[in-house]
Amino acid sequence: MSNIELDKALFEAAETVRANAYAPYSNFQVGAAILADDGKIYAGCNVENAAYPVGNCAEPSAIAAMLAGGGKRIKRVYVTGPGSTPVTPCGGCRQRIREFADLDVEIISHGVDGTPLVQTLGQLLPHSFGPEFLGK
Ligand code: THU
Repeated sequence: MSNIELDKALFEAAETVRANAYAPYSNFQVGAAILADDGKIYAGCNVENAAYPVGNCAEPSAIAAMLAGGGKRIKRVYVTGPGSTPVTPCGGCRQRIREFADLDVEIISHGVDGTPLVQTLGQLLPHSFGPEFLGK
């Protein structure tokens, strides 16, 4: 599969799950799709909470789906959200992706009314701390 075909599949998966996002407080629905090392696509949406800080982003939902489904490593990430500005992962999510991805993994950020932005994890999270610092 070409990167164009792959990104189309990732976009579709992110958009499908984004429709199920629970975001009554921000009204900012986000979908994330991961291509994992097992060749499967795993997706997740943001899940907010009346106790605001307890809510979680779409990316950790997708990571949890990957691990639950048997995937071990992240090979590509596609994030979709409203508007025309690329929806880039928050700082905490960059670190969560870092746990399961190499620094050259590409993350596509897409505000669905605009143009996708492609960046590597290393660009989004320079000089980062990861499992290898702890011998893992
Ligand atoms: N959000 C995500 O799910 N992922 C991102 O990459 C950016 C922000 C969510 C968190 C919250 O539910 C809403 O978007 C507004 O911040």
